[in-house]
Amino acid sequence: MGTPFISFLGPSNLDDYDNKFSFSQQPESIPKTFLDAMEVREEIFVREQGVPQENEFDSDDPRACHWVVYASVNTTTQAEQKDAAGNVVVRKQSVTKSQPIGTIRLVPFPHPPHPEPGSSYAADALETDPERDFSQPPPYIVDRATTYHDGKEPYMKLGRIAVLKEFRGAGIARLLVSAAMTWIQQNFTYFNPSVKTVGMDGMNASNIGEIPVWKGLICVHAQEQVAKTWAKWGFQLDEGMGTWMEEGIAHVGMFQRLNLEPSTAE
Ligand SMILES: CC(C)(COP(=O)(O)OP(=O)(O)OC[C@H]1O[C@@H](n2cnc3c(N)ncnc32)[C@H](O)[C@@H]1OP(=O)(O)O)[C@@H](O)C(=O)NCCC(=O)NCCS
Repeated sequence: MGTPFISFLGPSNLDDYDNKFSFSQQPESIPKTFLDAMEVREEIFVREQGVPQENEFDSDDPRACHWVVYASVNTTTQAEQKDAAGNVVVRKQSVTKSQPIGTIRLVPFPHPPHPEPGSSYAADALETDPERDFSQPPPYIVDRATTYHDGKEPYMKLGRIAVLKEFRGAGIARLLVSAAMTWIQQNFTYFNPSVKTVGMDGMNASNIGEIPVWKGLICVHAQEQVAKTWAKWGFQLDEGMGTWMEEGIAHVGMFQRLNLEPSTAE
């Protein structure tokens, strides 16, 4: 594998994405970086872990930031051929292509409520709530308080981290987590809502002090068997969030607080 490189995709219009179909059957209007992220996600979550195809894309994808890692992969297109005397009659030919090998996404606040401990749902369950308009982000709510979240503070959510099997153990996931955290640390005001566009009611704020401002809190819904790895990247298990089942896989909540520049984060 040559030196991997990373692509970034900010929030995008994915209205034409049809969740019933694979990444390779989507219209041309869908950004290439997103299709590459879905290529990896389908391989890992749909084929490896058995998540239904139509549940892989969700309403968080358009408002999220995505990162994709690529590797230069050399593929032989024509094998060398020799004649009976051992002379090369056809030379070996190969092409080098950039292949998407890993991805992660960062979903900004607001979020639906924390899952209830002991609950069990399919990843698309929240997508069928008849009360919610999925063309819009979820409403600002006061959530239940957990160990590291008071229920009110805006938080970012990292998720859908996946690395192709043959590229695991080489630090690709670490690279993705680090790229996402560095980006949001440097762009910490990016998702703060504006009173002008969202309005005080839309932000569930009755005074200026209640306007949601991101102060560095990041959450992950970690598959239980990956919690130790998230801990290595600085995330702490949130006991109060408990354990729940998503697509038949046990999940736990974890949080990390990034330091933002004190002079500008206030
Ligand atoms: C979890 C996952 C993204 C890790 O990807 P990765 O690129 O292999 O991870 P890294 O190489 O950055 O390693 C991260 C840590 O995992 C551990 N690890 C990863 N692969 C390992 C391997 N083959 N053997 C032993 N330890 C390994 C190491 O402890 C490593 O810690 P270190 O950074 O201190 O060395 C990958 O295994 C994956 O795609 N799994 C399936 C999808 C999934 O479960 N996603 C998580 C949803 S919460």
